[in-house]
Amino acid sequence: MATTLITGGTVVSATGRAEADVLIDGEKIVAVLTPGSELLGTDLAASVDTVIDATGKYVIPGGIDAHTHMQLPFGGTFASDTFETGTRAAAWGGTTTIIDFAVQTYGERVLDGLAKWHELAAGNCAIDYAFHQIVGGVDKDSLAVLPTLIDEGITSFKMFMAYPGVFYSDDAQILKAMQVAADTGLLPMMHAENGPVIDVLAEQLVEAGKTTPYFHGIARAWQAEEEATHRAIMLANLTGAPLYVVHVSAKQAVAQLATARDAGQNVFGETCPQYLYLSLEDQLGASSEQWGDFEGAKWVCSTPLRSREEGHQDHMWQALRTNDLQMVSTDHCPFCMKGQKDLGIGDFRKIPNGIGSVEHRLDLMYQGVVTGELTLERWVELTSTTPARMFGLYGKKGVIQPGADGDIVVYDPNGHTSIGVGKTHHMNMDHSAWEGFEIDGHVDTVISRGRVIVDDSGYVGNKGDGQFVKRGLTQYLI
Ligand code: URP
Ligand code: ZN
Ligand code: ZN
Repeated sequence: MATTLITGGTVVSATGRAEADVLIDGEKIVAVLTPGSELLGTDLAASVDTVIDATGKYVIPGGIDAHTHMQLPFGGTFASDTFETGTRAAAWGGTTTIIDFAVQTYGERVLDGLAKWHELAAGNCAIDYAFHQIVGGVDKDSLAVLPTLIDEGITSFKMFMAYPGVFYSDDAQILKAMQVAADTGLLPMMHAENGPVIDVLAEQLVEAGKTTPYFHGIARAWQAEEEATHRAIMLANLTGAPLYVVHVSAKQAVAQLATARDAGQNVFGETCPQYLYLSLEDQLGASSEQWGDFEGAKWVCSTPLRSREEGHQDHMWQALRTNDLQMVSTDHCPFCMKGQKDLGIGDFRKIPNGIGSVEHRLDLMYQGVVTGELTLERWVELTSTTPARMFGLYGKKGVIQPGADGDIVVYDPNGHTSIGVGKTHHMNMDHSAWEGFEIDGHVDTVISRGRVIVDDSGYVGNKGDGQFVKRGLTQYLI
């Protein structure tokens, strides 16, 4: 088994930072040592196979992106990253584990959907991966099967209050599934938007000739997010289930979560980099020479980008500081403009929903450290440690300590990253939602279960390095 010593760096955890050397033996971290320690010999560096000099750099647990959609079927097409391309891009950006969503749609059996996801991912991933289960059709079969997913290492499932006719669940279905969650310890995840209301507003806008991507953001009003968030919280309260609300973008939805948390309810919220940096006005309302006012399609996702004038973005940063929101995932769901997003020219409802970000989450959130929005420790907590605890991976992932997997990123605060196509762009998309973003930091080295997969020369890993990880129950309940 190969041994690796990461020396000279500052090890950053969710609770502090210290100068320390990290020793990896095979796939596992075996020691975190005070610099100069002779506990394991007078010249440890000479006795290991590989020494990584991290002087002046941060040594952090590998990123965990708990919300990705490789190859998701949506709007008559499929998310453009395969498990191979998407996990390789994630590795470039310092993410060493993804949790993707296996899909069950109405009329399909959950276990068939899950088997298909295993087939898509197995042997193709650059980094470790786990699954949540999308339950797009709550029926007798899915309710009966949900508890058995725990033995499969799938301990959370997502339902949708949006997308009627596609993934949508009504309140009765949600209630029944939450009762199962309350009985078993499964963590329900919610896409909290009032879909029926949104569909009426969208139809009215299109009929009035308001068909450009900007109106996607108008139709998906914050009231529809706040109302659904409140309803999901109440249904969870009624059943005694915990609740994890995905891709929160409206400040009013955050307030609903904060109120419930203050009252002692086990509800949690995730936001995404797009809701921190991008807006209705600047992106959904953008136009370009190539695409005219269809340019905004690049940023059509749901929940939608919100108005900067209304202050949602600042509020999201604040909620991350105060722990009203607990995590940042990407909701990585990439579509190309040509042949995919362009299905919606003339009708924003036909634009496949999603943004690609899996490669850039660590960098984008580190920029929040640079600009004073987050501490270094909170950066690690939001992007690695809490995702691990929330989704039953902690101890193996999300922490640098003996016994944990050797998933480590050496991050250079004196480096620089220019994001954009032709610069840093390894996702399978014909554009970048983050074109022109400049980051005052750089992913230097990425180690996945003890093996260097990204170094100075670029990606040096192999397709199939990543393994499926069975997750335990959430470790985050209050
Ligand atoms: O726009 C989005 N979020 N696309 C992916 C599907 C989902 O709702 O997460
Ligand atoms: Zn969603
Ligand atoms: Zn999603």
